Parts: sequence; C-alpha cells; structure tokens
Amino acid sequence: MTKFSATTPIYYVNAKPHLGHAYTTIVADAVSRWHRLLGEDVHLLTGTDEHGLKIQQAADSAGVSPKEFADSIAPLFAQAWERLNITHDDFIRTTEPRHAAGVKKLLQACYDAGDIEADMYRGQYCVACEAYFIEEELIDGKCPIHMKETTYVEEENYFFRLSRFEDRLLKWYEDHPNAITPGFRMNEVIGFIKGGLHDFSVSRKTLTWGIPLPWDPSHVAYVWFDALANYITAVGYGTDDKAFAENWPVDYHFIGKDIIRFHCVYWPAMLMSAGIEPPKGWAVGGWLLVDGEKMSKTTGNVVNPLDLIDVVGVDGFRYYVLAETTYGNDGDFSDEGLIKRFNSDLANNLGNLAARVATVVEKKCGGIGPASSANSPLAAIAATAVAETAQAWATVQPSKALEATWKLISATNSYLEDNEPWKMEPGDAVNTVMGDALEALRIVTILANPALPTTTQEIWNRIGLTGNITDLRIHADTKWGQYTGGTTVVKGQPLFPRLTV
Ligand code: MSP
Repeated sequence: MTKFSATTPIYYVNAKPHLGHAYTTIVADAVSRWHRLLGEDVHLLTGTDEHGLKIQQAADSAGVSPKEFADSIAPLFAQAWERLNITHDDFIRTTEPRHAAGVKKLLQACYDAGDIEADMYRGQYCVACEAYFIEEELIDGKCPIHMKETTYVEEENYFFRLSRFEDRLLKWYEDHPNAITPGFRMNEVIGFIKGGLHDFSVSRKTLTWGIPLPWDPSHVAYVWFDALANYITAVGYGTDDKAFAENWPVDYHFIGKDIIRFHCVYWPAMLMSAGIEPPKGWAVGGWLLVDGEKMSKTTGNVVNPLDLIDVVGVDGFRYYVLAETTYGNDGDFSDEGLIKRFNSDLANNLGNLAARVATVVEKKCGGIGPASSANSPLAAIAATAVAETAQAWATVQPSKALEATWKLISATNSYLEDNEPWKMEPGDAVNTVMGDALEALRIVTILANPALPTTTQEIWNRIGLTGNITDLRIHADTKWGQYTGGTTVVKGQPLFPRLTV
C-alpha cells in the first residue's frame, strides 16, 4: 500500500493555540485526509515543543516548574486539534522518554561523525526565536523576526559544523529540485546556503530545562536540535529501528516560512551527519496576518481559533483557512473576510444546492431521489472537477483544489437554474434533472470531504446514502453515474445559515 506521511511543526507551549497554529495544522490535516481518500496508508504527526529558555522563562513567571507549565498547556493543543477535527495519528511531546532517547542517539551520531565540537560562543541570542544571530542579521540591534532586543551570550558550547555541509546540501537540492513547495521557497533556501553557512551551537550550559548531552551532561541540547528530532523520534528513531525504517523519510514537513532555515538547512544537515536520509519534502506556508498585521501578544490581536468556530462552525473555519489563502503566500484574516467567504461559498453555493435539491425532490419526486442519467451535461464537468481537484491536492494547493470542486457546485446550481425543475410537472424530465443534481452533489461531498469532514457526511446522509465518505476512494467512487436513487432525501436544518456582518 502506498504510504503518505506528513508532520506539522511542534508548537511551543509558552502560549495557547492561536490562528497561525491552527492554519498550519488544518492544511496538514486536509492534505492527509485527501491521501486517505486515495487509499494510502497515512501518518500525520503533530505535537508540542516543550524545552528551552522560552518555556523556562514562561514557567518562571507563572511561578511553576517548566514541566508543570508544559503539562498545563500541552493538553490545550490536543483539545484544540480534537475540536478542529484534526486526524493526527500521533502527538509527540518533547518531554516524553521516547523523544529523549532519540535525541541522545542523534546527538551522539553527529558527535561520533566529528560534526559536533566544543567551542566558545560569543554573540546575540533572541529568546523569542530561540535562535542565535550574527551582528549583520540584526536590525538596529534587534532580532529581525520579533524586533525584540537580543541578549549577549558568551559561553562554552558545543557546535554543529554546519559550514561543512554547504556542498552536500546544494548537491542534495540539485538532485531533488521539487523537494520544497512552493518553488520560490527553494530559491530562498539555495540562496541562503550559497551565502555561506555558519556553525551553530547545539548546547547550552546555563540552562537545565532540556535533554542532557550524552557525552557531557553538564550541557543540555539546544532546543531546536531537540525539537527537529521529534520528526524521527516519533516514528521510532532511538526506540524502534524497524518502525523507523518503515516510516522515514516523511513525505512532507508542513511548516511556516518563519522556520524554513531550521527545517530546510539545519535539519537535513543534521540528518546527513547522522547518516539518515533527509525528508522527501517540505510544504512551506506563508503567514496569516490579522487585519494586515502580524499577530502578537503586545498588539493584542491574537486570534483564538476556537472563538471563530462559535461563529462559522468547525467546517466553516476549516474551509475558510484552506480556501482563502494560496498556501505559500501570506494571507490576511479578518472577521469580515471570514463571514463573506462563509456566505458566498458555503451558505449561498454548497448549502443552497443541498437545500434546493432536497426541496425539489420532496415536492416533485415524492421525496425519493431519482437515479442519475448517463448523458448528463454535468458528467464532463464533474470529471474535470475530479481531475483538477486531485491535481491540486497532490501539489499541496488546497485553495486551488477547493476552487476546482466549487466549479462543480456552481455548475450544478446553474444547471438547476437553467432547467427550473421547480416549475416542472412530476415525471421523467424532472427526475432526470434531479438525479443529475444528486449525482453531482454526491461527487462534491467526496471531493470536499477533506475540508468539510462533518457537513459533507451530513449531506451524504441527507441524500439517502449510507456508510462513511472516509471509506470511499477518490477515483473509483467519483466516477459519474453511481447515484442509483430510490432512497429518501431529507432537507434538514440549514447546514450553513447565512451570517450578517
Ligand atoms: N516550536 C517551533 C517549531 C519547531 S518544529 C520542529 C515553533 N513553534 S511556534 O509555536 O512558534 O510556531 C510554529 C508554527 O506555527 C510556525 O512555523 C508557523 O507554521 C505557525 N504559525 C505561527 N504563527 C503563524 C501565523 N500568524 N500565520 C501562519 N502560521 C504561523 O516555531
């Protein structure tokens, strides 16, 4: 069976889940759901990043131990993902023993390869990024990502000799030209590598909240070295060689553009040093800005995704984040945008189609769905929608995939408007129109299921079909002509009641 595996970043437990975390996680989930519908053996990994100075400081200000602090926040992520219908197969916390075992093994492998060496570190550190910066990278003495003052650090550290990996990384990317999507991010990574790589510190002596280095326990592992390793420790590295051999490398790391260097430069180099294959791919998302600005606690514009669910429902929110922004580009979140898209695509288009089909079937077909016809003008439109939707999900373009699926919804609504079955007398003509509309709706519910898992299943049941959409298969079950009719179609409550701004 073909395998498909994906990961989300592991989220820092210094704050509750916000819109940006939900965005990356929903994209990874929808793509994974699509691959399950293709019949693939899917593994989706998420989790939490719990070590390091940032968490230590957050715990200190809350007056609790870092472990207690992490234990209080990590479940909020698990709960949010449950609420958002995320189908991860594993949730790793970096404070778990299985993780520590793998991190130690990875550190030791790089050390034994001669790529980790003791040295003195003198320079700037940004706690918010958990990253070191060279002077030229700072803007007015501040971290270029957070625009926060950095701290001067001078300590004995162990360094990973990243500078030795320039040629190997460039060669690897040359051999894997499609590894990073979208393509323009690949250019950014290549440019960065060509600009010259600096060794980076992989340990901290002044911090105790972390995983001790196996050969020198007076240091703990640098939090990014520790965090990146989650992708392999979760699938057995250090604890289960067989599972690891079967499940690595991963198909896609879903990440935000802010952590591209760690993932596309540091991480493959660390793996190469340890004799492990790099991941097969990275899908890099842009930022979701809020009313044009970056979310931050200071500005007070941090959006809690769970609040939005109260307005547009879980599927409404999932749909919005998948459809509104081209994955890879920055997007802008606003309440107006959310409601506008909900009304246009869900209330007026999909919701309207489902409701009007049920109403007409009730009035003109005695409430029993008629079978679809072989020669419907919608058949070719459906085939195109399936092909385009499949192509877009395969290349991690959720907004394009949904656009392709929605073309079939719009075409079906137009087909009904052109034929006006509500004006016809009961009989063959109306049965043909409604059988075709039902068949189109059947196909739409399968195609849209990764984005709208609950409401598509509801529509499926309402049009008289049984079983779970998740047990269906994209290509076999989306072929035209499988709505055989003969079962009751029910209207039910509006699935996407129109909202006022
Ligand atoms: N813990 C690290 C990741 C380690 S992965 C081995 C981290 N955590 S984070 O919680 O700060 O953010 C993780 C990711 O959340 C970002 O890379 C990005 O994917 C996502 N986002 C956080 N804010 C975001 C937006 N405003 N918009 C879109 N995604 C953003 O970095």
